[in-house]
Amino acid sequence: MSFNSQYITLNDGNKIPQVGLGTWQNKNSEATIDCVYQAIKIGYRHIDTAAIYGNEEEVGAGIKKAIDEGIVKREDLFVTTKLWGTQQRLSQQAIKQSLERLQLDYVDLYLIHWPVALKTRSIDPSDPKNYLCIPMNPENKSVRDIDVNWTFVDTYLAMQHLKKEGLAKSIGVSNFSINNLKELFKHPLFKIKPACNQVEIHPLLPQDELIAFCKEEGIVCEAYSPLGSTSSPILTNETLVSIAERLNIDVAQVCISWAVQRGYVVLPKSSQVARIEKNYKNLVKLSDEDFATVNGLKEKYGEKRFVSPDFSPFKTFE
Ligand code: A2P
Repeated sequence: MSFNSQYITLNDGNKIPQVGLGTWQNKNSEATIDCVYQAIKIGYRHIDTAAIYGNEEEVGAGIKKAIDEGIVKREDLFVTTKLWGTQQRLSQQAIKQSLERLQLDYVDLYLIHWPVALKTRSIDPSDPKNYLCIPMNPENKSVRDIDVNWTFVDTYLAMQHLKKEGLAKSIGVSNFSINNLKELFKHPLFKIKPACNQVEIHPLLPQDELIAFCKEEGIVCEAYSPLGSTSSPILTNETLVSIAERLNIDVAQVCISWAVQRGYVVLPKSSQVARIEKNYKNLVKLSDEDFATVNGLKEKYGEKRFVSPDFSPFKTFE
């Protein structure tokens, strides 16, 4: 089996393809449909989206086109979507709406997008899409409208039923810290361990402690923004550029290869088909020396988190 098509077995027995296509910020409709379709043609079997990305319809259309053309069967694809904060009290309704937009009967993985519920007092419920927003507090429009009377534990307990109903083959979380996971595990009605915790991981934020904790608990980490997100300084980092040039690949593929080698799921995104292809096909096994150099980047350049929305008073990351 080649480097880009490895699977990891989740704690519920389901298998997840280690390299998946991230789709955040891919919003232009036709381009998104084509990216997803082309990615599947290239060989990707794992597509990651979220309700709040606003592109589930396009992601679903790309998947449908690939299935209709016989390129892939539904059961050979792994599709993830995520529950947005405004629907944490309504997870069953939310997943059904996501499935409708995706034109699917089930998702392979359903994640709590952030461990914070958002209030819906300013949302007109007549159109489900109205929930896909970031409501601001009417009393202080500069802060998000946080629902402090509903916790991620409440949400997760309800999501356990979605797995039992078959709407999601696996359930998990995203942007959860070690403390949040420990809090979840404590509840007497907590029965199903999250299969995955999707978090920001890249050479400047290697998340060693979180990955080790999750591994011990049987939870697979998934790396979002593995290239350091939009306008990433990682892609122009001199140390990575010199490794990439020597190996005749892009810095992006050095980062993805490093992630594969570290043993978790990695979800690079691109809106350009040529890059989507290279990010899948040009993965390599890094030498011990190059692997160690990438491991040392955080020490050399300092730790950097690129995705850190303000959910105060909730503290997302310790
Ligand atoms: P683009 O869509 O223009 O290709 P991530 O969030 O996964 O860390 O991605 C960060 C950015 O890296 C994306 O916005 C993407 O921009 C860019 N990118 C993805 N693949 C490559 C690549 N092979 N070379 C250069 N930039 C890339």
